[in-house]
Amino acid sequence: MSEWQEFPKIELHLHIEGGAPPEFIRQLASEKGVSLEGVFAEDGAYAFRDFGHFLQVYEAATSVLRTPEDYLRLTRAVLAESAGHGVIYTEMFLSPDFCGGRDLAAWREYLAAIGEGAAQAEREHGIIMRGIVTPIRHFGPDKAKETALCAAETAGDFITGFGIGGDERAGKPRDFAWAFDCAREAGLRLTAHAGEWEGPDSVRAALDDLRVERIGHGVRAIEDPGLVERLARDGVVLEVCPGSNVALGLYPRLEDHPIARLREAGVKVTVSTDDPPFFRTTMTQEYDDLARAFGWGAEDFAEINRVAAQAAFCDEAIRDAIVKRLEAAP
Ligand code: HPA
Ligand code: ZN
Repeated sequence: MSEWQEFPKIELHLHIEGGAPPEFIRQLASEKGVSLEGVFAEDGAYAFRDFGHFLQVYEAATSVLRTPEDYLRLTRAVLAESAGHGVIYTEMFLSPDFCGGRDLAAWREYLAAIGEGAAQAEREHGIIMRGIVTPIRHFGPDKAKETALCAAETAGDFITGFGIGGDERAGKPRDFAWAFDCAREAGLRLTAHAGEWEGPDSVRAALDDLRVERIGHGVRAIEDPGLVERLARDGVVLEVCPGSNVALGLYPRLEDHPIARLREAGVKVTVSTDDPPFFRTTMTQEYDDLARAFGWGAEDFAEINRVAAQAAFCDEAIRDAIVKRLEAAP
């Protein structure tokens, strides 16, 4: 077992369907008599060529998730896996596009099922989950508005954030400003994917036009020293997913990844997996790899988790509880 497996961790960036083990998707496909072509490699793992193809394969795999009950099972499976890697608190991206086609009544049913799965996992494994409602950028701004309305109607103890995923190269952040304003007015905390497939300007646009407090990825900010300074000064938190970036070819090797340089420049970085089985990673694997590539040890990871705890989209009682659990670690 890795020395990092039981180290207590906080994960802030995980797409719920992206956490589905391939066997879980194959099982659902066989129960429903659905044939999934082109989703799996010969070894049974997910197969894709690049980011655009990854999004297609992701949507194909997700197509077998058709009922609230499927999402209850998925939530339990993903949280059991996370808890097995020492994750004590996790935020998951949830998309009404996949959960009832942005129909509010249907979304409420899916959400009730996901909440039930989360409650079961918390009882069984002690892991706490919160949800970030997430429109899909390449589905366009009109669908994002409908998604924001679903988010606003269900904002509360469990749905605490709003974000945007999907193809970062589609449209501009300001096209989604209405959706983010709607979510903000409903009291949701905000994050957006940026600075992964687009450069530093996309990070600036997410901050200026969507007024988010965290950035999903954001790693390409490193290409602009002025932006790095701004992120450090303003305490913007990056949800960095190093293994995802390497698996999708953004950086050839982890040693080339800017996470350590961003951190040394005073930027608040956190560590997440994004879509772990797709990228053949786990939180333990991320820590193993970062320890090897950058020489990070327990104090580095403890600090990263303290940053994540402060940046978590949860209430203060939960924050106190997770900080205590981090502090109690040996
Ligand atoms: N990035 C962007 N959008 C996504 C991802 C991702 O890793 N997974 C699911 N939607
Ligand atoms: Zn992501």
